[in-house]
Amino acid sequence: EKGTYPHYMLKEMDEQPTVIRKIIQAYEGENGDLTIDANILEALRAADRLYIIAAGTSYHAGLIGKQYFEKMAGIPVEVHISSEFGYNMPLLSEKPLFIFITQSGETADSRQVLVKIKELGYPTLTITNVPGSTLSREADHTLLLHAGPEIAVASTKAYVAQVAVLAVTAYVTAKANGKGLEFDLKQELAIAANGIQTIIDSKDVLEDIAEDYLKISRNAFFIGRNIDFYVSLEGALKLKEISYIQAEGFAGGELKHGTIALIEEGTPVFALVTQEAVGLNIRGNVKEVAARGAYPCIIAMAGVDEDGDRLVIPQVHELLTPLVSVVPLQLISYYAALHRRCDVDKPRNLAKSVTVE
Ligand code: F6R
Repeated sequence: EKGTYPHYMLKEMDEQPTVIRKIIQAYEGENGDLTIDANILEALRAADRLYIIAAGTSYHAGLIGKQYFEKMAGIPVEVHISSEFGYNMPLLSEKPLFIFITQSGETADSRQVLVKIKELGYPTLTITNVPGSTLSREADHTLLLHAGPEIAVASTKAYVAQVAVLAVTAYVTAKANGKGLEFDLKQELAIAANGIQTIIDSKDVLEDIAEDYLKISRNAFFIGRNIDFYVSLEGALKLKEISYIQAEGFAGGELKHGTIALIEEGTPVFALVTQEAVGLNIRGNVKEVAARGAYPCIIAMAGVDEDGDRLVIPQVHELLTPLVSVVPLQLISYYAALHRRCDVDKPRNLAKSVTVE
């Protein structure tokens, strides 16, 4: 039940710190270290390449998962949109493991890939929020998100849970493979949970930003580099689906290859700056759009922030920034939708589980 909340989406965004803490508990072994089921770990270690299959927000989580497995565990990963995979099947490695990321566990586009992959006899793992769902039952293995039921059509806490569970899975695999990781993921996830809480506690700032930037806009851009680019895609999807504002996420460096032609006087451009290595580059992109009349909103992480940034979010481990940087984007979308009197929990033309291909 949504209780005193006006919308499920708001309730579910508020639950995000708790969801991360639940994941830490759920994946804690007897000795207190993070762990996953031994059979799943074996399947991950046996694979020479992971193929992540997902749709929508879950696909965006998959893009981040690729970085986790490649950077922490050194396992190559491909991420595919499930509806494209059927007729666009890539050449497979010798020992692939297929990972299906799906909040509902019922998405038809993802299921048809699972059916095909099972026919081919390859091992499969579903990461889902719904125990007993179709994709959970039909895959060899399941990892649960522990996010609790997600009712709002726009996915928020499930995305954060997907990113966290992917981090745990990659980290545990890396450790089992003897990779010397220099951080304690459990601790870093706890810091991220606190970081999300800080943002949630100052929601009114996001309401102001939504009013300032999006009250009358027809379109908006989200830009970032590296992992921030993937979060930009998710921020744009959230805004589109609940506020109906045309929005796109772009890699900062791609703007000059075409998109910058769309910038007009006052076009809102949300720029994520959480990665030190690309901080100067993305700030350069912000200058480029500002010089053409855009209205930029820089959302920077503490430690890489500068005077004039519109919002500074708490500092977390550089791999875990999506967990916190997505939250202001979710809240901005929420308030933009409210300002426009949209049905936040049940946007037009959308269903919570998409059970048609
Ligand atoms: C966006 C959203 C959708 C879903 C997509 C996949 O907010 O909810 O893009 O992420 O339909 O659904 P699942 O994860 O249930 O397979």
